[in-house]
Amino acid sequence: MSYSLATASYIGATILFILCLGGLSNQETARRGNLYGVIGMAIAVVATVFGPYVAGFGGVAWIIFAMIIGASIGLYAARKVQMTQMPELVALMHSMVGLAAMLVGFANYVDPIAASHLSGAEKTIHEIEIYVGILIGAVTFSGSVIAFGKLSGKISGNPLLLPGRHWINLIGLLVVIVFGRQFLHAESVGGGMAFLIVMTIIALAFGVHMVMAIGGADMPVVVSMLNSYSGWAAAATGFMLSNDLLIVTGALVGSSGAILSYIMCEAMNRHFISVIAGGFGTSGGTPAAPDGTQPAGEVVPILAPETAELLRDAKNVIIIPGYGMAVAQAQHTVYEITRFLRDKGVNVRFGIHPVAGRMPGHMNVLLAEAKVPYDIVLEMDELNEDFPKTDVAMVIGANDIVNPGAQDDPNSPIAGMPVLEAWKATTSIVMKRSMASGYAGVDNPLFYKENNRMLFGDAKKMLDEVLVALKA
Ligand code: TAP
Repeated sequence: MSYSLATASYIGATILFILCLGGLSNQETARRGNLYGVIGMAIAVVATVFGPYVAGFGGVAWIIFAMIIGASIGLYAARKVQMTQMPELVALMHSMVGLAAMLVGFANYVDPIAASHLSGAEKTIHEIEIYVGILIGAVTFSGSVIAFGKLSGKISGNPLLLPGRHWINLIGLLVVIVFGRQFLHAESVGGGMAFLIVMTIIALAFGVHMVMAIGGADMPVVVSMLNSYSGWAAAATGFMLSNDLLIVTGALVGSSGAILSYIMCEAMNRHFISVIAGGFGTSGGTPAAPDGTQPAGEVVPILAPETAELLRDAKNVIIIPGYGMAVAQAQHTVYEITRFLRDKGVNVRFGIHPVAGRMPGHMNVLLAEAKVPYDIVLEMDELNEDFPKTDVAMVIGANDIVNPGAQDDPNSPIAGMPVLEAWKATTSIVMKRSMASGYAGVDNPLFYKENNRMLFGDAKKMLDEVLVALKA
């Protein structure tokens, strides 16, 4: 493939990636957006592998060999992973981008051909690219591995707050800057390797420290922040390899991840810098009953037939799905119930909290899969005022996102996070298996309110029973 054809392919792929992002911003165009992304990536891969950048047949053979191994692992993981494990998988993938940026950086530095071609300012710029690329890659790699551990429960969600942690970070940053200077002034070819290795170790430690210090309640921001870092790591790799498409793609991912982090912070009423500095979700807070054995009040249980009765008599219903709906895979039954009630003239709407579930848009994806019409799926801000006019607020496997303690208890780890005000409905029904706490590990005063009922059991099983009772 000639240079001009490869360049044209890269421009085409870039346009498709931008169209992809545009499409993903709206549920109705998301499918098309995804398709643009897939086509763009296919064009990018073909133009890179068969383009003028890979030397000879031997090079192509190696790449195809690596692609077969990578694609097989990817296919296996994608088929095996549960929807609820998606955030962990995404964190693991981010770590791979970071690792790739690190390895490409070292490979570039020891590459004798690249070194002999460059001199003067060009050489300095190339070395800055290597240094910064490895730095971002290492932070992304180790931070994502820790995020994977926290999201999968292999590492405790509690923040690790070392004494003088801000000073530790500051000293690390200063050493990285000083060593960067030494690295650029290294006399011999490859003479900066020691500085590069020390900087990499510091960056890896920083990534671990940064994510370890972030409390469970702030993990949504970490997920989107590492998404952004992985984009910048890819862009840095693009600079090192002089690959324009990788630079553009990395910048698209980096900036969209940064915007998402901002949106997440707004949704949780957090300041981005404070989240990164760590420690939220730590102090105070009423610890939840660890295994549901010691609830902090009386709850009123309800059974499926009574739930069905309440729903049948209602005029306005708001359904609030959460992580438990994803675990139970109850979305299809939720839709069946919705359709039944709507046919009977009940106004059913869905209230979606920005951090419901375990990844951005988690609930929207599940509801779209179950074919729930988009126009009854509303953002928290769009219907929070309507709860006082609502007969039944049905909370399906959600907990933190309907916790009144976020508004009333300044010591709560989730204090200040906007929540869906389910308790303002005439009756709220919370569907979950036990009295256990949600992701943030805090008790939920909603459960003990007079107008609240608890429908205990697996969400899918209970909703199936409700549907049978409704149809009876
Ligand atoms: P959570 O607060 O985690 O509550 C989910 C509830 O679902 C649990 O209390 C659990 O109670 C119940 N549950 C689990 N499996 C169930 C099943 N099979 N059937 C019925 N109920 C089941 O979820 P949420 O309200 O969606 O809030 C999300 C939380 O995750 C927030 O704290 C948020 O900060 C955090 N988070 C979000 C993200 C993103 S980006 N969305 C990323 C990381 C973390 P039982 O065990 O008693 O059933």
